[in-house]
Amino acid sequence: MQILDGKKTAQDLKNEIQAEVSKMKAEGKREPHLAAVLVGNDGASLTYVGSKVRSCEQVGFQSTLVRLEDSISEEALLEEIAKLNADRSIDGYIVQLPLPKHINEERILMAVDPVKDVDGFHPSNFGKMALEMQAFIPATPFGIVELLKRYQIDIQGKECVVIGRSHIVGRPISILLSQKGEVGNATVTLTHSRSKNIEQLTRKADIVISALGIPEFLKADMVKDGAIVIDVGITRVPDETHPKGYRIKGDVDFENVAPKTSFITPVPGGVGPMTIAMLLKNTLLASQWR
Ligand code: GUN
Repeated sequence: MQILDGKKTAQDLKNEIQAEVSKMKAEGKREPHLAAVLVGNDGASLTYVGSKVRSCEQVGFQSTLVRLEDSISEEALLEEIAKLNADRSIDGYIVQLPLPKHINEERILMAVDPVKDVDGFHPSNFGKMALEMQAFIPATPFGIVELLKRYQIDIQGKECVVIGRSHIVGRPISILLSQKGEVGNATVTLTHSRSKNIEQLTRKADIVISALGIPEFLKADMVKDGAIVIDVGITRVPDETHPKGYRIKGDVDFENVAPKTSFITPVPGGVGPMTIAMLLKNTLLASQWR
């Protein structure tokens, strides 16, 4: 069993991005600039956005955090989006999800200028991605692909089962892994809450990608010997013995599943850091593509 070390791989990526930024600056170009919109005070979202902004500093990007009240109207948020679209100093930006219930998420994401949509959530980018055209690829699936690539894991012709059909992870990764390409050509099955006998499918799979958000859902008897397991889950589970009062749990019963696998991502330190690194990568691309 080998751990797919997302923390180390993300650091390698950040070093490469930092070197690229230094080169850009030496050529008299401006450093890439990422903005993040955070509506409200959700604890997890605050942590993620904080981490994204800190990572920008690490690689020499400029960053801007736009914090808005929970009570902001949809119209006022759309005005903020219009400002970011018009601001020529900003290469790319994200709107942290989830948004408050009174705001129509789809309407907001549709308003983001696709050339600044470094999350790859706009239909224009999602469609281009699905058609194998140049596009921003959502950071989490992009990070999974990059991790597999850097560990030289050959997935051609392999049976891959994805659990979860979210627009952010499950759906795009299922598309990417079935496409032609270096990390591609897999036979992908996309499973979800209405799928029957998920465990029968995972038991036959060469690769299992779980993006479900149910702690320790994937048990040892659900994977075959030598499988590759990618855990996208990051759920906060209350734990009074921890200083923060919670612990982060993945979708995989790591302790019992790991010994059966050939490769597995840990939580934390697997897919999470890769997601942030790929957001930086997309921002670098945004500054180069404009
Ligand atoms: N919420 C959970 N994951 C993400 C992400 O990748 N981007 C944004 N904007 N919000 C998220």
